[in-house]
Amino acid sequence: MQKKEEKQEKRYLSVINKILLILAGVLLAYNIKVYYDRVSSSHYEIKGNEIIMKNDNKYLQDFQLASLSKVLSQNSQTTKLNAQLTYNRINDFRDFFASLENLSNLKELSLSIGKNPIVNEQVQAASLGKALAKLTQLNHLNLELDSLFNKQSIQVILKELSKISGLTELRLSLISCDLSGDGLQSLYPLTDIKNLISLELLLIGSQLKEEEMKHLKTILHRLPKLKKLNLNLYANKIQVDGIITLSGGLFQQRQLQEFGIDLYFNNITTNGTESLMGVVGSMENLTSLKLGLEFNYIKNEGGIFVGKGLSQLKKLKDLSVNAASKNFGFDGYEAIVTAIENLPPLENLELIIGVNKCGVSGAELLKQALFKQNKLKSLKINFLENYVGDAGATYVAEGIQYQKNLEELSVNMNQNSLSDRGALELARAVKNSKSPKIVDFKVSSNEITDKGIKDILVLLEQALPKVDLLQVEFLDTALTNSTRDDIELKYGSVDKLQLKLNTIPASNWE
Ligand SMILES: *[C@@H]1O[C@H](CO)[C@@H](O)[C@H](O)[C@H]1NC(C)=O
Ligand SMILES: *[C@@H]1O[C@H](CO)[C@@H](O)[C@H](O)[C@H]1NC(C)=O
Ligand SMILES: *[C@@H]1O[C@H](CO)[C@@H](O)[C@H](O)[C@H]1NC(C)=O
Ligand SMILES: *[C@@H]1O[C@H](CO)[C@@H](O)[C@H](O)[C@H]1NC(C)=O
Ligand SMILES: *[C@@H]1O[C@H](CO)[C@@H](O)[C@H](O)[C@H]1NC(C)=O
Repeated sequence: MQKKEEKQEKRYLSVINKILLILAGVLLAYNIKVYYDRVSSSHYEIKGNEIIMKNDNKYLQDFQLASLSKVLSQNSQTTKLNAQLTYNRINDFRDFFASLENLSNLKELSLSIGKNPIVNEQVQAASLGKALAKLTQLNHLNLELDSLFNKQSIQVILKELSKISGLTELRLSLISCDLSGDGLQSLYPLTDIKNLISLELLLIGSQLKEEEMKHLKTILHRLPKLKKLNLNLYANKIQVDGIITLSGGLFQQRQLQEFGIDLYFNNITTNGTESLMGVVGSMENLTSLKLGLEFNYIKNEGGIFVGKGLSQLKKLKDLSVNAASKNFGFDGYEAIVTAIENLPPLENLELIIGVNKCGVSGAELLKQALFKQNKLKSLKINFLENYVGDAGATYVAEGIQYQKNLEELSVNMNQNSLSDRGALELARAVKNSKSPKIVDFKVSSNEITDKGIKDILVLLEQALPKVDLLQVEFLDTALTNSTRDDIELKYGSVDKLQLKLNTIPASNWE
């Protein structure tokens, strides 16, 4: 379209000299660009009664938000709104909130506005709170306010939000909001939402330590009995006393059917794990559990508590355990894997259990567990940096091939001292495995030769007809440039295959 207009322009200006022509072309292109920016920045879609505003990384400013506000005003019948407005250059959301307020039929709202340079945060908070309180039909709310508000403003918003009596599902993201000291008291209004069934709290990097957990405990006590709870406490400073307090709160939510807790980058240690797994083990109706205990110094004894807790959960269908940690030893590993082996048949299993040198016998235990748990729909194994060698890889491969119902398979065997033989066994397992539609296969940082990589790809290639997506990663395996070029030529544009390769020298081999 741009070219066509330029041609017309040329005809018009045929008598004018070249310099002027170029100048006109530049101006024209500039005008078109501005015009396009305006259109794409108000990027939204309307599907029936649903509005979707995608975040298209255009750094929206206030004048562009105004056109989105208009979209809301003109579609007051909307029942579902997904507004992804994080990471823009918006200073003032008040008009947008005022338009939001009029969507009186709204049942589902996902509103992400974090990381914008808002001015006058108290006024913005009051305006958001006012709008939320008006959305009386809302059932599901996903509110993302990352690094925007202080505790007073959060409290103002949540007080209003808690008036939505029909709210059943809430996901609240307050990443990088400082909630230290009595900051978590700003979340107390949540306990007034009497119909709440599902709550997800993202309190990542919120400066939470031991004392703060008392407030979280109070909240868990006062909340209605939930079916689903997800607490993301990643990157705080919660230690043993904090987790003991929090476990006390969780004890009041033992009826949970789905529970997730992420404590990555805290330090709950062995005793904290005992306390947490004591209460998790008592959640006898759990069907879904996600435990994130990576780098919490849980040690061998902590792993044994994890195994003990897991073994009590007889209704579990979906399990994700992250216990990867340097000083987590074989006994702890064994306890967890054996507990998984003895659970009733799971549908989804994610096991992130690397960096602990479980060795070849650890891989054999995993094989045994997978022989028992052989009806998985989704299997994700992250064995990063376990040094299991080719013999270990062969056990893992056998475990994978034993699966009957796989739809999704993810295997991370990076840094496991594999040679071609072990990596080929794993590739063969992928090739032979029954039904996965999505496969993610990683064997980076192993001693695989150029020939090995080519052979592996020949095997994996045979899996392509049955999969929808095959992702393969071979980074830092000392691939030569010529092989990389061969591979890129042969597989670079193969449908459904995503390859990650590099040619870094063998300096980081063990
Ligand atoms: C909201 O609705 C009221 C009453 O229908 C109307 O007067 C007002 O202009 C609307 N506000 C916005 C921002 O659409
Ligand atoms: C689990 O469910 C059963 C049956 O609904 C119920 O009796 C029991 O109290 C529940 N357990 C917990 C810990 O809430
Ligand atoms: C973790 O907590 C333990 C016991 O409270 C303490 O000895 C250790 O130094 C802590 N480690 C880190 C990295 O904070
Ligand atoms: C952990 O608990 C044991 C017994 O329950 C106790 O003897 C020990 O002192 C505790 N360790 C720490 C660091 O609190
Ligand atoms: C291999 O290719 C990279 C670029 O991808 C280049 O920087 C490097 O010099 C090449 N190495 C050799 C040995 O040719």
